Amino acid sequence: KAPYFYFFQNFWCPSISLQGVHNFQKYFQAKDNDVFVASFPKSGTTWLKALTFAIINCQHFESLVNHPLLTSNPHELVPFLEFSLVGDVDEKIVKLSHMTEPRNFATHLPFPSLPTSIKESNIRIIYICRNPFDTFVSGWHFFSIFMSESSHKITIEEAFERFCNGVIGFGPWWSHVLGYWKESITRPNKVLFLKYEDLKEDISFHVKRIADFLGCPFIEEEKGMMESIIKLCSFDKMKDLEVNKFGHHLKIIENKHFFRKGEIGDWVNHFSPSMIEKLSKIIEEKLSGSGLSFKTQS
Ligand code: PPS
Repeated sequence: KAPYFYFFQNFWCPSISLQGVHNFQKYFQAKDNDVFVASFPKSGTTWLKALTFAIINCQHFESLVNHPLLTSNPHELVPFLEFSLVGDVDEKIVKLSHMTEPRNFATHLPFPSLPTSIKESNIRIIYICRNPFDTFVSGWHFFSIFMSESSHKITIEEAFERFCNGVIGFGPWWSHVLGYWKESITRPNKVLFLKYEDLKEDISFHVKRIADFLGCPFIEEEKGMMESIIKLCSFDKMKDLEVNKFGHHLKIIENKHFFRKGEIGDWVNHFSPSMIEKLSKIIEEKLSGSGLSFKTQS
């Protein structure tokens, strides 16, 4: 059977994304006012896509009554380019070039593998990461849905061993996170580095940070608007929308699978003491000296 991942440019590229990654790297041309959401899978991307889209477009949807997020899944509004740029790529690239600006896209690619025009331009990237324990568990649930119908079925123990060896889509996890972390330190106007746990703890503070970073800060009179955006993008609200209960993304994923528990610390229900010890050691070693740490319990 065909391998699930290919080791390519120092990361594990899902075989289904190879063509899209190639097209993204080769044909995509960044514009200086583009806004990218970047993440390792299962780190809070859906949430950040919704927030970013709502903030960028807040002038167009003042009442939020007809907001696109009420009828479209965030992945439809803010597409992952490595998954979208397949098929008739010429036509798609032309369409992208005519999109209303600022354009809002997303990617799971590690920083070094981003197209040159993104790395070298002034576009802004908002990166979200999440503690590796919850990221692994969230991924395990998500990928189990697909594995149940494929020949790639593995146990949680096997998946955990692979995660610890870095073998996971767009992994290793630590290289992904450190790549964007380093870039956010050297180029803070280009990369805003966020953690899922911090957003859970104080969403107002982080929504303000995102808006400031994007150059569209909320003024005092817009506080109500900011609160509405936070509510609209909240886990309970998003999970309960018809489009997210019954719709599909790219015809293959049911939107409901992007919303599971939305909590910090669900990993305690899945990890054995030896798994905790093993991953803690690896993460401590890999992140050592970086100044980066993660909260694992709420
Ligand atoms: S993906 O497939 O990579 O885009 O997945 P991603 O969105 O990065 O991660 C999915 C996890 O995020 C939770 N989620 C949310 N948390 C808080 N608020 C909102 N609005 C939200 N939307 C999705 C989702 O439930 C997944 O986490 P788990 O732990 O599996 O519940």
